Amino acid sequence: MDVVVVESAEEVAREAASRVTDLVRRHPTASIGLATGGTQLGLYRLLTDVYRRGQVSFADNQFFMLDEYAGILPTSTNSFQHVVRSEFLNHVDAAPRSLHVLDGTAHDLHAEAQRFEQILRDAGGVDMQLLGIGTNGHVGFNEPGSPPNSRTRLVRLHDDTIASNAPYFSSPAEVPRVAISQGLETIMKARSILLMAIGARKAKAVAEMIDGEITLECPASILQGHSGATVIVDSAAASLLASRV
Ligand code: GLP
Repeated sequence: MDVVVVESAEEVAREAASRVTDLVRRHPTASIGLATGGTQLGLYRLLTDVYRRGQVSFADNQFFMLDEYAGILPTSTNSFQHVVRSEFLNHVDAAPRSLHVLDGTAHDLHAEAQRFEQILRDAGGVDMQLLGIGTNGHVGFNEPGSPPNSRTRLVRLHDDTIASNAPYFSSPAEVPRVAISQGLETIMKARSILLMAIGARKAKAVAEMIDGEITLECPASILQGHSGATVIVDSAAASLLASRV
């Protein structure tokens, strides 16, 4: 796992955008796993800018969702597929059917998780998976205690995740309690992983992910075992690291 510490959130986004655009220029048919959360927004804005300047094309890429709330309509602003479309894909030349979604409104969510996992396998996995990190160390919606051999599945959100995501809803009661998420093993199959973290509220989770033992209590710590994982953090998120890298 490589760790890159930069000064600001803006630089985190710039560093990540340059890695994504490098990949897409070298490998125009690369498949990319897309994450949501406030941390990703700066990256999506910069990728849109680079596209508008004519410096990159996403026309031949395939995109895969990392996770999705259960029971939220795809048209809702809280739907993760809506977020990646409205913040990124709708503004670039991504092909209309290039986003492989997790349908949180599917009648049988277990079957939906398996369908997605199969599509991912048939595509040969992703070349780059984008990730954020929860304040409790979750990646995707793999909460503490998630098994390392987990695949895409139905998950129950922890109270701190519900509280963190409540500002996006009209009240905490509106936050779904259940979601579908790529599993830890699914994420670890990605050929490269780019995790971004910004702000002091992520400092504890970042320190546990990088300096701590690989433990179920901090799901992101599993990334220590991925040779193609890069963690990009700003100085606030890096403030509890044993050694600033
Ligand atoms: C949600 C998502 C995660 C994301 C996390 C952090 O829980 N499921 O994939 O990493 O939020 O979000 P933010 O970037 O807003 O802190």
